[in-house]
Amino acid sequence: MMNTMEHYNKGNESFIICLDDDRDFLNSLKISLPLKFRDKPDCTILFMDNPYDTLEMIRELVKDKEEIALLVTDQMMPHMKGIDFLKEAMKITPRSMRVLLTGYAGMDSAVVAINDNVLDKYLTKPVNDLEDFVLTLKRLLNEFQLKSTVDIQQQIILDLYEFSNSLNTLQNLDETLEQTMAFIGSSLNCERISILLVQDGELSIRASTGVPDDILQRIRIPIGKNISARVLKDREPILVKNIDEIPWLSKKINTEFKSFISTPMICAELSSYDVPIGVINVTNKEGNEVFSEQDLKTLSFIANTASIAIHNQQNREKLEQSYFDTLSALIMALEARDTNTKGHSVRVMQYSEGIAKELALDDSTIKIIRDAAILHDIGKIGIRDDVLLKGGVLSPDELEEIRTHPDISGAIVKSISSLQEVGMVVQQHHERYDGTGYPNKLRGQAIHAGARVLAVADAYDAMTSQRPYRASLDLEDVLSELRSGAGTQFDPDCVKALMVHLDCLRETDNMSGQEKKEIEIP
Ligand SMILES: [Fe+2]
Repeated sequence: MMNTMEHYNKGNESFIICLDDDRDFLNSLKISLPLKFRDKPDCTILFMDNPYDTLEMIRELVKDKEEIALLVTDQMMPHMKGIDFLKEAMKITPRSMRVLLTGYAGMDSAVVAINDNVLDKYLTKPVNDLEDFVLTLKRLLNEFQLKSTVDIQQQIILDLYEFSNSLNTLQNLDETLEQTMAFIGSSLNCERISILLVQDGELSIRASTGVPDDILQRIRIPIGKNISARVLKDREPILVKNIDEIPWLSKKINTEFKSFISTPMICAELSSYDVPIGVINVTNKEGNEVFSEQDLKTLSFIANTASIAIHNQQNREKLEQSYFDTLSALIMALEARDTNTKGHSVRVMQYSEGIAKELALDDSTIKIIRDAAILHDIGKIGIRDDVLLKGGVLSPDELEEIRTHPDISGAIVKSISSLQEVGMVVQQHHERYDGTGYPNKLRGQAIHAGARVLAVADAYDAMTSQRPYRASLDLEDVLSELRSGAGTQFDPDCVKALMVHLDCLRETDNMSGQEKKEIEIP
């Protein structure tokens, strides 16, 4: 049995498989076809004499992501008819072109097979005109390659369209960068990807994969100073297939870079000039392949699409930050009208952060708690001054009115799309652990962790500050008040965490030998 693969014109583009149990014919093809296909260096021709072994080999090739362009088989074989072989092969490699060699007696079934789409072509056997036989195979090979190119282009267009649509649904810059990185990775199969964004007149890496940590730490590049920066300055992408072929460049760049593309991200604005957003770099294609012009086109399209989405996200974040800053200024102004509450939000933020760190909450939750602490009482702008600034104990109606402020705070904060969770914490900061708080009588773990932290910090600052109707309480009384409220008004873990935090603060003060400082408003 001849089941060894004989490779001719070895490349990695596509395979032609010839199957025939007639060894004499197969041997004549082994001699003639490689010579006739010298002009197709990317084509590998395999000769097989057993259909079962051939099917197994096709499975292996497909598993290795190899492309089988052409299957040529004899019809009359002892163990399996050629048409049946092609039907089986079709299940494994449906895009391959299929050719049947048959005598005149088998033509009727070949015609049926063509009509059933099992065959692309049948050729009569014996092969009397080798030139004509070779020409037919080459024509089919070209047809396959054309079809492949069209299929690939079509898939690229579809993928790019989906990518472009998906960016419109994302909520923030990090998600946009993450999605862009994932799409570049799946489209270009490269070892390294980095997205550098313009920040304060410099480029810095904002997202990357495969880039060593030491490079990540130090890459902040003034625009115009290296390849990426020059690409952005010139607004022209660079495709380098093999850096060794460009000596002046290979001296400047780390030698492990062999093939790379660097493309600028420029956002074209209708109303004004183009805005430079950043640069996308991709390095070293997997499998030692080099980047192609098609890769450059694909990456340029990705860069154009991503630059619009990134620019929009950056603008939205700037807008939301300025809204947050306005609300913070408003709360400071509100507090400044009353010497008793001046600096309350900032102190609550600092105590809350201390508690959150003692509880080992993650960084993103701590950020939410900090923002919520600053804005938690913003809803008091909706309360009448004669109630808010009243210098005495509140009547039940006035108390009712003041209890509307968490809902008002929540509504104001939630008007910023990126602060939905902060708004939730703000709205819940007067809920009690035992479920008797307001506005929604939430209980225990149903209250957001941030709101449970905030409730303790808020109460601590309220009790240690002077109020119109009382002086500030003694620290020991405050602590005992908090301890007695643990499990009813407060989450006991948050109370414990505050005690530990205050102990740490006292220790720090003692060690430094300094007087307790007034907390500064940043
Ligand atoms: Fe409050």
